[in-house]
Amino acid sequence: MPNRVVLGAQWGDEGKGKVIDVLAGDADLVARFAGGANAGHTVKIDGRTIALHLLPVGVLSERAQSLLGNGVVIDPSALCAEIDEVRHRGFETKGRLWISASAHLVLPHHRLIEAHGESSAGCTKIGTTNRGIGPAYADKAARRGVRTGDLVSVERLRRAVQNSVGFWDGISNGLLAQNGLTVDGMVNELLGYRERIIPMLVDASRMIDDADRRGATILFEGAQGALLDIDFGTYPFVTSSTTTIGGVMSGLGVSPRVIDQVVGVVKAYTTRVGLGPFPTEQEGTVADRLQERGHEFGATTGRKRRCGWLDLPALKYAVRISGISHVAITKLDVLDELAEIPVCVAYDDGGKQSDDVPIDITRLDSVKPVYRSLPGWQTPTAGCTDYDDLPSNARSYLKYICESLGVEMLIVSTGPGREETICLDRAGAAV
Ligand code: IMP
Repeated sequence: MPNRVVLGAQWGDEGKGKVIDVLAGDADLVARFAGGANAGHTVKIDGRTIALHLLPVGVLSERAQSLLGNGVVIDPSALCAEIDEVRHRGFETKGRLWISASAHLVLPHHRLIEAHGESSAGCTKIGTTNRGIGPAYADKAARRGVRTGDLVSVERLRRAVQNSVGFWDGISNGLLAQNGLTVDGMVNELLGYRERIIPMLVDASRMIDDADRRGATILFEGAQGALLDIDFGTYPFVTSSTTTIGGVMSGLGVSPRVIDQVVGVVKAYTTRVGLGPFPTEQEGTVADRLQERGHEFGATTGRKRRCGWLDLPALKYAVRISGISHVAITKLDVLDELAEIPVCVAYDDGGKQSDDVPIDITRLDSVKPVYRSLPGWQTPTAGCTDYDDLPSNARSYLKYICESLGVEMLIVSTGPGREETICLDRAGAAV
């Protein structure tokens, strides 16, 4: 089987969890390369819904080993709570879950600093997930972060925590101390996680290289989406990691030669949580219907997702940046009742039309979408597992997306369950 990368092609919440869960059935190793406990990967197995925020979805697979790479930021309390939760649900991680010794830790003061920034007048409010992601990556880039590997030595750990806490307390006029966050307290808390975390530490790059040399199938699990990428997203309304293809290499220490296929996950319409531009956003009844039919609430924060139509220029941008070769199109069934489905084919920027994202991506907040209307199918597709059973207008909608993006269709998801899936590489369906 090919080594695949699965990436979100919009603003996150495309349904990556479900797609990764389906593809993990063929994988020997599932490796996550970026983000932290801000992700919300929802998987429905045998009628039970499981939402993972930090662990790779591979932990729910019977055969795969799972790996968190150096590009992931790890909140030890969230990690241990999630391990306990999946174990409670019958999925054992012992001997199956591994963590890079170079991954950075998210600590309580990162969450405090983030909450402070989000509520301070004078700071741009991003609408983050409040998981401490931004400050943890800021510490990493500023070379004052605490890494999982620091847990092996008390002295090293104390020095690393001191570096970060000292810096933030200094520039915030003692905010940490005022909130009871001290170096001693934090080191003590971290020492409590050593026994659980140290046995999982590995050299992620070597683990992947060994797996590849053995001929194992590797699945690279993305988090968030292309438009939330720290460099290519709608900055500053983005997350703090590389969510596009480059993150795989830098977040795991792998060669691009290991990758055979890049799968972009595309929701059949568009959603976004948090603040920032969203050209095809709808309001009123249309937004309410999409929100209701798609159960569009954030898996991590429970926030209502903003909803709108499919945005082809934004998707083309995601395809270009990550070299997406295949797509998994999700939530097709949410559109089942519509007579007409508008799709944004270009942006009008002050009278000039383009099917590409503006050079200055911040202009996405002022461009006007140019829509083409495609006929709906007004027939239920929920639960459909055979491409040929889809109504012809639904197939035309899917084909139109793939042809516009120049990609192949790999998966169509017609419901949250594992089995509510059309896999085009297995069914041998003619597309
Ligand atoms: P942060 O990643 O918590 O710093 O949040 C930054 C932005 O990314 C906010 O707009 C969040 O709503 C968004 N975001 C982060 N993770 C996800 C996700 O998994 N799905 C959708 N949006 C996300």
